[in-house]
Amino acid sequence: MISNKAKKQIDAWVAKYPEGRQSSAVMEALKIVQAENNNQLTHDNIQAVADYLDMPGIAAAEVATFYENYNHQPMGKHVIRFCHNISCMLNGADDLIAHLETKLGVKTGEVSKDGLVSVKKVECLGACVGAPMFQIGDQYYENLTIEKIDEIVDGLK
Ligand code: FES
Repeated sequence: MISNKAKKQIDAWVAKYPEGRQSSAVMEALKIVQAENNNQLTHDNIQAVADYLDMPGIAAAEVATFYENYNHQPMGKHVIRFCHNISCMLNGADDLIAHLETKLGVKTGEVSKDGLVSVKKVECLGACVGAPMFQIGDQYYENLTIEKIDEIVDGLK
């Protein structure tokens, strides 16, 4: 269920914590496994992470369902996590999200026809000074405009 490549990545995180505290790597482990499964975590994926980290499945599921970083439905290859919290909202996030939905022909939470992109509305990502902003993978894109969004999205492969 978890590839050898993913296990190596998870092991590197586990090594950062004291012996016997491997469950502390659960957030990164879930992220790694999600990335390998089309940006989606199924119940089986979550249980596999729990088993690998020798922790109760319910504890891994609590983490996986608490944070917005994890997806429990099919997602595109790239997930655009668009902040719609107060600073971003006041700086036009709603109009930009609407533009993105029209451009991609999807509503938030859906996958584009080519399977490449999903858009997800998320709460504050801690980059309010660069509002409006979104995140794709580990990259933040700030001070977004329609032109910037078009350039970023058109560059996704
Ligand atoms: S409100 Fe959007 S990053 Fe904080």
